[in-house]
Amino acid sequence: MKNEFIPVCAAYMAGNEKKYINDCIDTGWISSAGKYVSEFEKAFAKYSGCKYAVSVTSGTAALHLALAAIGIKKGDEVIIPSFTMIACAFAVCYTGAKPVFIDVDEKTWNIDVSKIEQKITKKTKAIMPVHIFGNPCNMKEIAKIAKKHKLHIVEDCAEAHGAEYNGQKAGSFSSVSAFSFFANKNLTTGEGGMVVTNSKKYYDKCRYLRNMSYSLTKPRTYEHDEIGFNYRMTNLQAAVGLAQTELADKYKAMRIKNNGLYKKFLSQADGIIFQQDEKNAVNVHWMNAILVDSKKYGRTKDELVGFLKQNGIDTRFLFTGMHKQKCLKKYGCAVKGNYKNTDMLTKGGLYLPSSSNLTEKQIKKICSLILYFGKHTPQ
Ligand SMILES: Cc1ncc(COP(=O)(O)O)c(C=O)c1O
Repeated sequence: MKNEFIPVCAAYMAGNEKKYINDCIDTGWISSAGKYVSEFEKAFAKYSGCKYAVSVTSGTAALHLALAAIGIKKGDEVIIPSFTMIACAFAVCYTGAKPVFIDVDEKTWNIDVSKIEQKITKKTKAIMPVHIFGNPCNMKEIAKIAKKHKLHIVEDCAEAHGAEYNGQKAGSFSSVSAFSFFANKNLTTGEGGMVVTNSKKYYDKCRYLRNMSYSLTKPRTYEHDEIGFNYRMTNLQAAVGLAQTELADKYKAMRIKNNGLYKKFLSQADGIIFQQDEKNAVNVHWMNAILVDSKKYGRTKDELVGFLKQNGIDTRFLFTGMHKQKCLKKYGCAVKGNYKNTDMLTKGGLYLPSSSNLTEKQIKKICSLILYFGKHTPQ
């Protein structure tokens, strides 16, 4: 069982990436002007079941731009899950508003929809469901709550390219939604992000704010009516993004297949728990996250991580809850309350290797090590 290194998640680029990048270099179009930006936006909007897409520099920028476009501002509150990546909370803070945390469901690890209404106040303006690890949230219930209380939905689809709920693509349920193309995502541009929407008004607002609030219609002047951002994606990144989007369904199928293999090979592993797919949903399994029940497994998460590391298997811990973040407490967020499922995931959870192009042999090896370590003391 020695000793090839298996990274936790490497980018997979198997299409026209090099060809399109070379075209950018050969033609000199390397900044944010260039045909790949608009081609990528068009292709990605179509892939996500939305009319419009606006490319940006990161998933965090996409979340911020989405919130800014719908007018979130100081004094407002935005509901987010407590178990998520910190970018969700930061994006809300950038607008001056306050993120409000809701614990996640014990099984699906997505925002617990039964707890959302308890935290809606007069200041609440939006709900930000996060399709965690590629598992779409219960959008039917979230849409009902949003409609009843007249709230925006801003989906965080950073981990959920191509995921589906009731046959509808993640990202298409909201006023405005955000994607990330960081190197470990199912589709990547190295760093990068995308806002998608079906609203022409929010599309225009995003394009305007993304580019320093230069007018979209009038001749270029250097007078600016609103504070804008430089969140422009480069043509080089978009060239990679277009090539990735051309093969999006192939990459999605690879991630789903790998998750099936992990579940098959670990089906006899006592105390190794997988995320439960949301009902009526296609989970695209950005990451193969597991929860270690150390009583049943016989080992702690830390012991397992150490053992896998000795054997060349790279892993990562899961997110620390938003209620545990010093910076958010300092910012004035309410951090008291019951977040037991978030804490359970932080304590016992880890990512196993999840690159799209993992082989069955590699997955079998990782699972054999996990099974072996639960039962034996290694010499
Ligand atoms: C759920 C979630 N939201 C937002 C982000 C932020 O994306 P980026 O790293 O591209 O800024 C990430 C990135 O990993 C994420 O996992």
